Amino acid sequence: MIDDTDRALYQRTLEIKKNAYAPYSNFEVGVVLRARDGTLFEGVNVENGAYPLGVCGEKSAYVTAVTQGYRPGDFDLIVFNASPCGGCRQWHVEFKVDRVVYADADGELVEYTPAELLPDSFIL
Ligand code: THU
Repeated sequence: MIDDTDRALYQRTLEIKKNAYAPYSNFEVGVVLRARDGTLFEGVNVENGAYPLGVCGEKSAYVTAVTQGYRPGDFDLIVFNASPCGGCRQWHVEFKVDRVVYADADGELVEYTPAELLPDSFIL
């Protein structure tokens, strides 16, 4: 269930997204990823003139955490301001985050598990 902490972290994503580099879509995404030890990682989308090379905000948050030594299973929450793309759903599955919280198309905060976002997903 969405709680006050989720709402506060969502407010933080709206600040973080100002650092997005999204000159092509003008769609800015801000992300907070929380590790089980309480550490928060932030991410934004970073686009590229060769469009497919852009990076989603969720991926940049996971990459930052992995750089610090965190691994799949180490995260309990990821919050952001967009409905996740198909590729990022696979990342949520890979990193086994407990809860995925985001603002849906109506601006409502919603919560899903990775399995709900990507049923019967591919796992090596
Ligand atoms: N985007 C994200 O950062 N995360 C998502 O889950 C959905 C899409 C970004 C990618 C691109 O920079 C912009 O939003 C428009 O698609």
